[in-house]
Amino acid sequence: MLPELLVSQIAAGEVVERPASVLKELLENSIDAGARTINVTLDEGGVRRVQVEDDGDGIARDELRLALARHATSKIANLSDLEAVSTMGFRGEALASIAAVSRLAIITRRNDAPHGAALHAEGGTVGEVEPAARAPGTTVSVADLYFNTPARRKFLKSEPTEYGHCEEVLRRIALSRPQVGFSLRHNGRVSRHLRTESLRERAAALLGRELAGASVPVEAAAGGMRLRGLAGTPQAAQARADCQYFFVNGRYVRDRVVAHAVREAYAELLHGERQAAYVLFLDLDPRTVDVNVHPAKIEVRYRDSRAVHQFVRHALERALAPSAAQAPVAYASVSQQAGIQAALALAQPSATYQAFMASAAAPLPAAEQSPPLGFALGQLHGVYIVAQNEGGLVLVDMHAAHERIVMERLKRALDAGEVARQRLLVPAVFSAQALDVATAEEHRAALERVGLEIVVSGPNELTVRSAPVLLASGDVVGLARSLLREIREYGASQMLAGRQNELLATMACHAAVRAHRSLTVTEMNALLREMEDTERSGSCNHGRPTWYQLTMADLDKLFLRGR
Ligand SMILES: Nc1ncnc2c1ncn2[C@@H]1O[C@H](COP(=O)(O)OP(=O)(O)OP(=O)(O)O)[C@@H](O)[C@H]1O
Ligand SMILES: [Mg+2]
Repeated sequence: MLPELLVSQIAAGEVVERPASVLKELLENSIDAGARTINVTLDEGGVRRVQVEDDGDGIARDELRLALARHATSKIANLSDLEAVSTMGFRGEALASIAAVSRLAIITRRNDAPHGAALHAEGGTVGEVEPAARAPGTTVSVADLYFNTPARRKFLKSEPTEYGHCEEVLRRIALSRPQVGFSLRHNGRVSRHLRTESLRERAAALLGRELAGASVPVEAAAGGMRLRGLAGTPQAAQARADCQYFFVNGRYVRDRVVAHAVREAYAELLHGERQAAYVLFLDLDPRTVDVNVHPAKIEVRYRDSRAVHQFVRHALERALAPSAAQAPVAYASVSQQAGIQAALALAQPSATYQAFMASAAAPLPAAEQSPPLGFALGQLHGVYIVAQNEGGLVLVDMHAAHERIVMERLKRALDAGEVARQRLLVPAVFSAQALDVATAEEHRAALERVGLEIVVSGPNELTVRSAPVLLASGDVVGLARSLLREIREYGASQMLAGRQNELLATMACHAAVRAHRSLTVTEMNALLREMEDTERSGSCNHGRPTWYQLTMADLDKLFLRGR
């Protein structure tokens, strides 16, 4: 038999990976206790202290020592309770595990108790219950995590990184409970304050207005299942998958079944590597889902995963399909745009412009001067450039072509040392999660090497001050976010060396003209000339062709001419 303390320390290895896991367990306990308001205090990223104070039911004085005992829980008593469990906790392990590897203090008071009670534990040694003053509710304070297991402590990361993980834990739980108020203090300063609010307001506060503004409500029920929440429209899609929150019976889970169902529902709407943004809640009979799969309860298993998959997919597809009532509006806005463009064109009667138009559309100049890709005639649905060359008709995918041009230029710049930077006239401010803020700070130099100057402008805010010259008019925020993600996933040196092509492709994609931007004939011709001057311009960075030639003979064939 292993000694009791060692057993707890082993269990802690599974459940308590880092300060954020402590925070998760304490928050879940407060939720289970029916708290309406929860105040979180962190010191030094949670490594020095994680404290959670709630106004929930409290713990009875004579049960307080039990709360720290292993396998002691008030939430289930037998197997059928376990199979139908609807509370966040049920293993009766979290507090015992945490107490084994920290200095823990609980002060608690039940509503009907005349006063509160306090209990301390240090490295698994539990003290005696003492009277204490407190309003009804519970405060659990966990200090000096891993003070007695130094090997484990070495795995902890920097304070900003640990704080970032804590913030993500709070974000998940706060999203799942908009009816509960939360506050977060870090190193003595308030960094979040969330009042009781609607899901949409909560999502806006935690994930930024982008999602809250560009999402449709989801509300569907069938076969004992219910799906609700917010599904981001394609406008809210991002380059990375970190705005994807799926909760099963109120619990944040990472689940392949639903992730796949969601991806399928979005498949038609999102192109390339865009990632959907969503906050979705699946509620189903707890007896049909097993939460006792993973020590930290991050995974679940369904009794009928096919039914879950189908339900989630269809419910989401229906929510995302534009309703009949919306279609005319979309058309109206398109024709309105066309009207504005026509008006603009008419309001520019400048002679040079007219002359240029004439020359561009005129019969081609002598053959030896005619550039291979010819001259632009116009733009087709904001996606293709239609041009005429000697051979006949040329169609160019303008985004793909531009992407390649920018990529080749960036490659040359990076090879030559540094990418030329340009200060933005209007710095681009964007909301960022603490982990990104930490990454931006830590890897400032690497980011500057690729031409991005990002400064921290708030606890959850970054500002792009300068961007690569080639990209300054592109999507700099999108670029900044993608690069931060790359660094987080692969490390800065790896990003600059081993993944240079991917890096350049990412940058080029954010710089290139988007489809649906209207270009002038001058701009189109400039693009054609640049294509001619760029290596590998025949295919885009992803290997698709950038242009296509239809010869006069091809066209004749289409019209059965000369047969
Ligand atoms: N904030 C709280 N308010 C009221 N009771 C609490 C609170 N935190 C813990 N408890 C009590 O202490 C017990 C032990 O908590 P602990 O987190 O160790 O186990 P659990 O929540 O039952 O299960 P799990 O290990 O799955 O979290 C709980 O069952 C609960 O009765
Ligand atoms: Mg618990």
